[in-house]
Amino acid sequence: MELEHEFERVVAADHRVEPRDWMPDGYRRTLIRQIAQHAHSEIIGMQPEGNWISRAPSLRRKAILLAKVQDEAGHGLYLYAAAETLGADREDLTAKLVEGRQKYSSIFNYPTLTFADVGVIGWLVDGAAIVNQVPLCRTSYGPYARAMIRVCKEESFHQRQGYELLLTMMRGTQAQRDMVQRSVDRWWWPSLMMFGPPDTESTNTEQSMKWRIKRHTNDELRQKFVDMTVPQAEKLGVTLPDPDLRWNAERGHHDFGEIDWAEFWQVVGGDGPCNAQRIAHRRKAHEDGAWVREAAAAYAAKKSGEEQV
Ligand code: ACO
Repeated sequence: MELEHEFERVVAADHRVEPRDWMPDGYRRTLIRQIAQHAHSEIIGMQPEGNWISRAPSLRRKAILLAKVQDEAGHGLYLYAAAETLGADREDLTAKLVEGRQKYSSIFNYPTLTFADVGVIGWLVDGAAIVNQVPLCRTSYGPYARAMIRVCKEESFHQRQGYELLLTMMRGTQAQRDMVQRSVDRWWWPSLMMFGPPDTESTNTEQSMKWRIKRHTNDELRQKFVDMTVPQAEKLGVTLPDPDLRWNAERGHHDFGEIDWAEFWQVVGGDGPCNAQRIAHRRKAHEDGAWVREAAAAYAAKKSGEEQV
């Protein structure tokens, strides 16, 4: 009882809960679920853009893209490490991902058909990720909040490189401008889906807000993203594919059209355009890496043996 009061006091005071502190089982479970999904998203998220590393149009764009995809791997690693501080086992999390028992973000199940998609992912997908993740720098669990600070700095750099790539393409030929517009048409709605189901259907939000794991609801963050993105689209010279998108002076926000939630749940349920391919690729990479894990374990065992002599 006393421990529970102390936990509630820490959360209410906006202090951080740390790994050795007492915490309710549900709080621990919710964090492991969210942090694992987040880590899996970073790791699976390397695939759509990784697809373009060997076909980037210049050495400069290739170096940028390589660095960005490596950053995503780093984000995944900080997040798996944060999940481990809660008692989760890394090997078990990977098994759950490749067996489809844990989720990752819906957005990474869409294909990258042109190089413009690299720019649009940076602008819209990383832009949405920042809107969602900046408040997580103030999440109540210390290791998650601290991991998010570095992740957000890198994400904001990713977002700007995407926008810069698109500005360059928009200054190019008509064919390049058309390629950017078609890419925006394909990624706009899936980017809005990244924020999760509407608040009325979000099963976890209420409790996660009470525990201050989440600081805003899915719909609040989605609205913030739309309001932020509309002027950026205007500056870029592209149209967002939503005839219902318009400024509502009374609300002080943009109104926007209905999201296709059937599509969202289909993708989350494993039946999106690239789900099978993403998981098969991740499974193969994990299996192909078995010898590295074995060699690292053998080396660690040898080193610890030497230290004992
Ligand atoms: N893709 C896949 N599944 C999703 C998505 C999505 N975009 N949005 C929600 N879901 C799932 C939830 O995981 C939950 O399923 P579960 O209970 O089986 O775990 C279900 O849909 C209902 O959603 P919510 O109750 O709203 O879930 P939650 O409170 O966890 O909110 C959110 C979802 C906003 C994504 C939250 O988990 C979060 O902020 N996560 C951290 C950020 C993150 O994971 N970003 C990944 C993409 S960004 C990037 O990697 C670049």
